Amino acid sequence: MMDTPQALVVAGMSAGYRGKDILHGVSFTVPPGGALTVIGPNGSGKSTLLKAVVGLLPLSAGSVRLGERDLGPLDAPARARLGLAYVPQEGNVFANLSVADNLRLGWEFLHAGRRAGSAARRQRQEYVLELFPEIRARLSGSAGLLSGGQRQMVAMASALMQAPALLVLDEPSAGLSPRNAALLFEVIARIRATGITLLMIEQNVRLGLAAADTGLVLAAGQVRLVAPAAGLAGDDAVRQLYLGTRAHDTRLAGAAAAS
Ligand SMILES: Nc1ncnc2c1ncn2[C@@H]1O[C@H](COP(=O)(O)OP(=O)(O)O)[C@@H](O)[C@H]1O
Ligand SMILES: [Mg+2]
Repeated sequence: MMDTPQALVVAGMSAGYRGKDILHGVSFTVPPGGALTVIGPNGSGKSTLLKAVVGLLPLSAGSVRLGERDLGPLDAPARARLGLAYVPQEGNVFANLSVADNLRLGWEFLHAGRRAGSAARRQRQEYVLELFPEIRARLSGSAGLLSGGQRQMVAMASALMQAPALLVLDEPSAGLSPRNAALLFEVIARIRATGITLLMIEQNVRLGLAAADTGLVLAAGQVRLVAPAAGLAGDDAVRQLYLGTRAHDTRLAGAAAAS
């Protein structure tokens, strides 16, 4: 089983669409077992950053490494087989399949053609269902009939069936009620406790930073701040910019201009 957490090292990454860069020289490291949350305004390039990390967008400059491995030459499926699990913001479950089949697919694509028995799969499923007890009772039901929060849990559970070295989440709480978002983040805290390396985007700054040890502020495709998440959550500049107490903050803008 994979499961060994790996460091993610992004260095000088530029990437974008149709020859036009959206990201400009983005660098950060998530140590093995660490968790980093990316925050930033809409359109700042957060999802683009994750797509470039998982291999859905080519880099125009820079590098991405997982542990000792340079991911540059690898396409997205090859990165997935290496232990990189990605849950995009939308379209992340097979709606017309049962919850159990969704989990099975998360397992099968890594183990197809290998002699990994169904006992091993059941063991992994058991482990995953302990993280998401709420979906256990719904295993035989259609994934598409679940609530948004439950679908998000199925998507994350399917990703975890891969026993990934790195879990990448794009706005896991998007579209959820405040209560369901809080519940989902309780699960993310339990996932973290298993020692996995975690990279996520979260528009709920409070929840997202509470779930991470490092916060990264992205604005206009550039890293504006990387700092311990606990400090960032209380940072006036971040609070004012992203928690909506003020539309503009001179200190953060000044820091950005100086960098
Ligand atoms: N598939 C795409 N083709 C062209 N431009 C895109 C595409 N996806 C996103 N963009 C552009 O890239 C910028 C960053 O988008 P995105 O990474 O989705 O931001 P965020 O996730 O921070 O809201 C935006 O200007 C957006 O319009
Ligand atoms: Mg996005």
